[in-house]
Amino acid sequence: MPTSKAAISTNWKSRFTKKYLNMTGEHAGEKLNQILLRIEEIHELKLKNDSTILSHYYMPPELQIETEDGGVADHTGDSLSLSMMGSKTKNKNIIFCGVKFMAETAHILNPTRKVFLPSPNAGCTLAESINGTDVKMLKLKHPGVPVIAYINTNAETKAECDIICTSRNAINIANSFESDTLIFVPDKYMGQNLVNLFKNETNKKFILWSGSCVVHENFMENISDMSRLQPNAEVLLHWEVPGETVTNVLNNAKGMVGSTADIIRYVKESSSTDFILGSECDLGATLKGKFPEKKFFTPCTYCSFMKEITLLNTLETIKNIGTKNEDERLITIPEDLRQRAYIPLKRMMDLS
Ligand code: 13P
Ligand code: SF4
Repeated sequence: MPTSKAAISTNWKSRFTKKYLNMTGEHAGEKLNQILLRIEEIHELKLKNDSTILSHYYMPPELQIETEDGGVADHTGDSLSLSMMGSKTKNKNIIFCGVKFMAETAHILNPTRKVFLPSPNAGCTLAESINGTDVKMLKLKHPGVPVIAYINTNAETKAECDIICTSRNAINIANSFESDTLIFVPDKYMGQNLVNLFKNETNKKFILWSGSCVVHENFMENISDMSRLQPNAEVLLHWEVPGETVTNVLNNAKGMVGSTADIIRYVKESSSTDFILGSECDLGATLKGKFPEKKFFTPCTYCSFMKEITLLNTLETIKNIGTKNEDERLITIPEDLRQRAYIPLKRMMDLS
């Protein structure tokens, strides 16, 4: 449930500003005040418009939940938990603070709710690397081989695949097939990591596509160098980091490869105090906020697509609900395509 206006003001002053917003200079107070006003207005409009805000862990702190920190979201999660929340949201409207494939997924799973994406530019290099025709060609080339699509794909791609997976459930989904050959699209690096993982355990072979994440493909020597400089730190790597980096780094240092939620859980359960993060920069801010007693080192690469979503365009989106401008940020998918994309998503949800 949205927090009350009074609670936001108190908590914002006491924790949110101190923890995340390291603002100095003559206009700092003014800027912080403006952020507070926007946060309060969003909370009021959420109640008025029967809206819920779902946000990814890569959003800046003010767009995450952390009720005690004053963020605007009702749920913050990785792509799997956002799909789950999206599928069962009862509010009339969902504002999605994430990227387009995530908002589309919420609409595919919960078509009676209106889903809004605050910026049309919040794309994803993985989702753009493949389309439905590409999948049809792969199926023609490898008849009968099941196709697993990473959730970072557009509706049109999903509609041609057998099942969807996220970074959290990819291993279980791959294991759910008896076939010893699987097509995995579109992330070649996540595919490499799956190949490496399955290499010693099963006979499974993966046919891969050539997509990559513009953020995670950059974690290479920089992570190995950091790890050498901080020999006591554990290394946290997302599945989308190149397979070679994952192997090299984890052969020489303690740590893990996994999804965003796996990374957060790992830090929580680890007795280590120092970590090197090979993932999006605002996940670093999330980790610092959640575990203030621990230290995080990161080359800090931002996903420019995620950063398209701001407090201001989130406020504008929610203000536009019920006006003639409402449709500008509304996610729409032709109904026959939505129904076809629903099938592989539903298979994933049933196995998650
Ligand atoms: P998660 O499934 O870990 O949330 O990853 C989504 C994503 O886009 C990572 O770049
Ligand atoms: Fe896509 Fe990479 Fe951005 Fe995630 S971090 S949304 S995979 S471009």
